[in-house]
Amino acid sequence: MKILSFESSCDETAVAVVENGRTVLTDQIFSQADLHAVYGGVVPEIASRSHVEVISRLAQRAIEVAGISKSDIDAVGVTYAPGLIGTVLVGLNFAKATALALGVPLIPVHHIKGHVAANYIAYPELEPPFLCLAISGGNTLIIDVRTYTDMHIIGATRDDAAGECFDKTARVLGLPYPGGKHIDKLSQGGDDKKYKLPRTHIEGSAYDMSFSGLKTAVINTVHNAEQKGETLDRASLAASFVAAVSDTLVPRTMAAARELGYKKIAIAGGVAANTRIRADFKKAAEKDGCTLYVPPLSLCGDNGAMIGSQAYYEYLAGNVAGSDLNAYANMEL
Ligand code: KG4
Repeated sequence: MKILSFESSCDETAVAVVENGRTVLTDQIFSQADLHAVYGGVVPEIASRSHVEVISRLAQRAIEVAGISKSDIDAVGVTYAPGLIGTVLVGLNFAKATALALGVPLIPVHHIKGHVAANYIAYPELEPPFLCLAISGGNTLIIDVRTYTDMHIIGATRDDAAGECFDKTARVLGLPYPGGKHIDKLSQGGDDKKYKLPRTHIEGSAYDMSFSGLKTAVINTVHNAEQKGETLDRASLAASFVAAVSDTLVPRTMAAARELGYKKIAIAGGVAANTRIRADFKKAAEKDGCTLYVPPLSLCGDNGAMIGSQAYYEYLAGNVAGSDLNAYANMEL
């Protein structure tokens, strides 16, 4: 079954063709990062407009590069939630029109379930149940993946998402948007113990997380150094920051896996590209005798292939939408 899939929940327009949930025939991604860099963050109106401008040509290109014709498409999958409402609407309306024109089913996909599914593409042998940590610009969730479509949140951030915290820290360190990969690079030469940054514990909740205190601590460290005229060791501050994020994410995920009895742990989302977090997970998984699933960098950030993969399993579960399908900024798993 070949699914043409669309992703437009934030600042990547992506169109893919995925066969039977696991084989990617093409994954076309147009990143708007350069358009937003000057503002230091995503500007929703600019994002929506850019999606409108490129989605039609990207879809055309995806079909050409996949080497198929329109009549080979069996279904259309699309992110319908969560995300920036205007940008999700662009992809959703284009997908609806495409499904109608081709006379094929329209399959709604939850964006975070798509991130989880990126692992099915990278690891053909992976099947639920397993535990997944989804860490992106807008979400930080420890997810109990019981089946391909039945997922439950075990822990979540109470405030900022991990990626948001990376991006805001990058901004205060004078790095370009989106800052995650720049912090990653800068941190490589730093001393991760030089700056004492908080690891927030949430009373009464073993698996929930908080990142806003960490963000404030970095901002205060930078401002204090500026006020005292001290030279900041930016590489060490970046390294200390990444260590604090990793120390928040990794032990909680491993503890949740132990409690639920899972030996399979996956990570997903843009922040899963982080070198330190990947390395810490590798060590922790080895220690606990778990198998770790880490998507390649190309499948960590937003992409259309992950939506096409999840769409296949949604279709098998009977989740097909009508043309009245709406977009939602927020949506439970
Ligand atoms: O999954 P994604 O592409 O979009 C959302 O669905 O949000 O994630 C984007 C986030 C951004 O916050 C970006 O700074 C972060 O992922 N990111 C990273 C790295 N690469 C991207 N964070 C830490 N280290 C990285 N190497």
